[in-house]
Amino acid sequence: MCGIVGYVGSKNATPILLDALEKLEYRGYDSAGIALVSSNGIEVKKTRGRISTLRSITGEVEAGGCTVGIGHTRWATHGEPSDVNSHPHLSRSERVAVVHNGIIENYIELREFLAEHGYVFSTETDSEVVSELIDYYYNGDPIEAVRKAEMQLKGSYALGILFKDYTDQIIALRKDGPLIIGVGEGENFIASDIPAILKHTRSIFRLGERELAILTKDGVTVIDKYGERIEHECEHIDWDVDAAEKGGYAHFMIKEIMEQPEVIAKTINPRIINDKRIDLGLKRITDDDLRGIKAIKIVACGSAYHVGVVAKYFMKKTLGIPVEAELASEFRYDDPIVDEHTLVIIISQSGETLDTLYGLREARSRGARVISIVNVVASSIANESEDVLYTWAGPEIAVATTKAYSTQLVLMNLLNWHIANVKGLMRDDEVARAITQLREIPEQMNGMLSDHEQMQYLASLFFNCHSVFFIGRNIDYALSLEASLKLKEISYVHSEAYAAGELKHGTISLIEDGTLVIALCTYRPLLEKMVSNIKEVKARGAKVIAIINHDDTQTEGVADHVVRIPECSEYAIPSLTIVPLQLFAYYIASHKGCDIDKPRNLAKSVTVE
Ligand code: AGP
Repeated sequence: MCGIVGYVGSKNATPILLDALEKLEYRGYDSAGIALVSSNGIEVKKTRGRISTLRSITGEVEAGGCTVGIGHTRWATHGEPSDVNSHPHLSRSERVAVVHNGIIENYIELREFLAEHGYVFSTETDSEVVSELIDYYYNGDPIEAVRKAEMQLKGSYALGILFKDYTDQIIALRKDGPLIIGVGEGENFIASDIPAILKHTRSIFRLGERELAILTKDGVTVIDKYGERIEHECEHIDWDVDAAEKGGYAHFMIKEIMEQPEVIAKTINPRIINDKRIDLGLKRITDDDLRGIKAIKIVACGSAYHVGVVAKYFMKKTLGIPVEAELASEFRYDDPIVDEHTLVIIISQSGETLDTLYGLREARSRGARVISIVNVVASSIANESEDVLYTWAGPEIAVATTKAYSTQLVLMNLLNWHIANVKGLMRDDEVARAITQLREIPEQMNGMLSDHEQMQYLASLFFNCHSVFFIGRNIDYALSLEASLKLKEISYVHSEAYAAGELKHGTISLIEDGTLVIALCTYRPLLEKMVSNIKEVKARGAKVIAIINHDDTQTEGVADHVVRIPECSEYAIPSLTIVPLQLFAYYIASHKGCDIDKPRNLAKSVTVE
């Protein structure tokens, strides 16, 4: 996600803004910029790259001594990282400058509307429409202009806004995106996150949903969405900087686990038209191309591969064609049988995993059509794919992926249904119903996350175990793979994921008194088999935690502990089942005092073979 800062006071704003942006660097970014307003107008300095690069181009502005400004670090979602795509965006009239965090879901129609009124755009971003839309409505009253523009916006936004005619103020506005107000002595601040302003003030309040704030050096006025003035009590922040960077969470991993509902919604919503149609925005692979697809191969590594194994089950069932998930490191040496009628789906959070990149190149060299699902805009895999579908999970800091995995899962559903609809295998009304069910996931997931104590308790019972077996059948087996990897990579506890039916063919010899087995039992057609498998391992002394459906009464009497997922559609089950298993891994590692965000021997992006 992007980072926003703003300062209004009596000091030179430039060094304050630059320092504040540096405090947000941990969030990940690819470009940065500042805008300053004075009697000379609005001055914008922005660049692709690091804040140190931005410092090198703001030197002359520093001499100007402007005392009011906004700043931004950009994590690209729409439009590749570049100087022109970075924020702040200054309207062509040079009357309005904006920094934006979030996603404007209807930016294409807004660009069309503004173009009809003579506006011209110079970037590929969704954010640029915000500055031009405010300019469109501006007739001397900044608040009226902002509110009128806001009424046209769909999506999420945290905004910092400067007006050329108002050199003593910043306007801030938010919906869905975080924005805090820092209250100082003769100076006031806006920021996406506390670390940015902790050096200047520990008195902050969080702007409420659709509240608009007007900041001057003498005070902050807040107006709610009804136009009524409201007061906010300041809270005193006693965090240190390290805690502040994690939003008060102990680790980035748990912060990112908790962010999953929000980023799933951010990844789904901009691709749903009128609540019933999918628009993936594919640019090169046409519907005719998709109609001609006779086989699908999903190629990835690690957790991204595990997403592919889950998706494989759904896609085979929906599309009725061969669908395989393959490890990229194997695929590229396996003389893969692919051709122009094969769709290869590449999945990668970083977009830089070398095994996966080579798998992509192997597929393309053999004529396959390639769509990639990537979290980092303009990454190597994104750039070498025919089409790319970005997950909008924001920067993922923890080495162990959680929110990127979850956004990949839901995006694969949309891709599956789009292909099925194009092939005439899913009617429009069936797609609409599936979309409705998919959009229930964030709320269902929030419910599970609020009940994280159960997993904390179970982790306290089993954190000393030396080996854990995750077993499941069909999609539950696919989920077992990811659950096992999560536990291994952050807690260093040995673990194996096993197709439950396979256990008896050898590995069950390892089950002994006290061995922990986590049985995933959400796939209803094979529940009876899973109950038998649980009995098999219990007969050999295992302790069993079962992940079960909301209405499962069979497993409850057999397992030692049960964790229920809420009532949900079959499409939602993987997204919901993985949550307690992520939490279990996290709390086990936490009990063991592991370096959870940076596990030993691991890198966030494996750019070696
Ligand atoms: C996941 O928790 C691991 N960090 C790792 O398996 C990762 O999923 C794998 O290296 C693939 O990375 P990518 O998604 O960036 O390609």
